[in-house]
Amino acid sequence: MLAHSAGEMAGVSKDQHPWWETGVVYQVYPRSFQDSDGDGVGDLAGLERRLDYIAELGVDAIWLSPVFPSPMVDFGYDIADYCGIDPLFGTMEDFDRLIAAAHARGLKLLLDFVPNHSSDQHPWFLESRSSRDNPKRDWYIWRDARIGPDGERLPPNNWVSDFGGSAWEWDEATGQYYLHAMLPQQPDLNWRNAELKAAMLDVLRFWFDRGVDGFRIDVLWHIVKAEGLPDNPPNPHWQPGVNERDRLLQLHSTDQPEAHAISAEIRALADSYGDRLLVGEIVLPNDRLARWHGTAEAPQVHLPFNFCLLENSWNAETVGRLIDEYETSLPAWGWPNWVLGSHDAPRIAARIGEAQARVAMMLLLTLRGTPTLYQGDELAIGTVPIPADKVRDPRELRQPGIGLGRDPSRTPMPWDNSLNAGFTTGEPWLPLNPNWKSRNVAAQNGDPGSMLELTRALLRLRRAEAALGRGEYRSLQCREALLAYERCTADSRLVVALNFGEEATEMPAQAAGGERLLSTLPGSSEQLRGNEGVIWQLRG
Ligand code: GLC
Ligand code: MG
Repeated sequence: MLAHSAGEMAGVSKDQHPWWETGVVYQVYPRSFQDSDGDGVGDLAGLERRLDYIAELGVDAIWLSPVFPSPMVDFGYDIADYCGIDPLFGTMEDFDRLIAAAHARGLKLLLDFVPNHSSDQHPWFLESRSSRDNPKRDWYIWRDARIGPDGERLPPNNWVSDFGGSAWEWDEATGQYYLHAMLPQQPDLNWRNAELKAAMLDVLRFWFDRGVDGFRIDVLWHIVKAEGLPDNPPNPHWQPGVNERDRLLQLHSTDQPEAHAISAEIRALADSYGDRLLVGEIVLPNDRLARWHGTAEAPQVHLPFNFCLLENSWNAETVGRLIDEYETSLPAWGWPNWVLGSHDAPRIAARIGEAQARVAMMLLLTLRGTPTLYQGDELAIGTVPIPADKVRDPRELRQPGIGLGRDPSRTPMPWDNSLNAGFTTGEPWLPLNPNWKSRNVAAQNGDPGSMLELTRALLRLRRAEAALGRGEYRSLQCREALLAYERCTADSRLVVALNFGEEATEMPAQAAGGERLLSTLPGSSEQLRGNEGVIWQLRG
């Protein structure tokens, strides 16, 4: 029996708001959350044991990075079976138990859908590469070589992989190149092939029928390439020493009109199951990002990830401007969202320091829109040095020494000060944060000055105050290091003031007479102290 009935098909009625508008998403990177079997890698049974922690934190949904069978060359983003669970993480029974246990605690569960590429070990690709006339040949993107001036073999076009190097890999057996926007072990799927598309939509049905509440969709803007695969133009701003990906503008390899059509189809499928959520990983400027909301008649993803806080400098003027620009870019039917960390981005506390990371947490959890909180940021895990012989990230290994390493953001959750921070009884697959004996969940639990308790307090306030959930956003002044804004409903007005600097500054005038609800710092002062964020409530 299908998990949805005709009555639910219409989704959410006009006057009701879907759960995810006021919900908070918590990203779990499964390799590093909790190990249960001593192999040094987190797994589903471990995550299930820690569900109470996530529920008590006060978030609404878990987005779980990939747990499907995979050779793990890109740590699960290279999938060899879209409808299974990798034995490293457990079994399908473990998954069914996990989803039931999450739902029992009122938590939604989102999986990671990786439609742009599979693993080169996926049976589809093994078939596709077996001969030029294999029925699955066209499920991937194969092209003849170009022949250079001296008769040498050249890739079909100039596209560069996001991990560096040509996006084409020569395949001796059938004498053609295949396209890989990421690693050579991640061949791109051909969404222009109707059978491939149908097979991928079936993957979504498989998991929706199992009860998942939605998906985060990996590199969605890459999913279709321009017909004819023309060369990409050079990027005039590129300089050696940064990611080679950026040497070209990805004009023909990403953000194609057909990709929008597919995302509308995926949305229609999700909507046929009722109240499910689609979050798209899309890295584009605001005007182009906004188009991924689709139209009112043909919506696309609910939340095209908004990475602007990760990609720009951290000062009140810039952040204030980014918020205004993003808010303005949203279509009338679009709902905002905010991201401060992920398994791909530097840790926020490493980037701006712990004192500012507390201000950033207040920002993330008081802006209008759905926040995504990355595991470990609630502990303000900062810089984690990774010794050269411990580096695991393929992006770092392909282009060493230019700061592309993602391992420091992927280190295990420190739970307590027992062996390996309670993460594993074995050897953790990546080192722990060096200060794990003091920076861990147990140590911060109940300590009112800790990042963990600040995060919990902010999440409680967000739940209690309708103005923080669905209230309007109004920017107030932005004066030197001060960023201030209001969140208002018809009967409540909250003022948030964030000091991005180290010097004390005057409170915003709009907070006068307000009741102080929460500060990022202990105690209180007449002024806004350095690195302090404060929320007031005004009545009447
Ligand atoms: C996304 C994932 C990243 C992965 C890449 C290729 O950006 O978040 O971790 O390496 O896609 O699948
Ligand atoms: Mg394990």
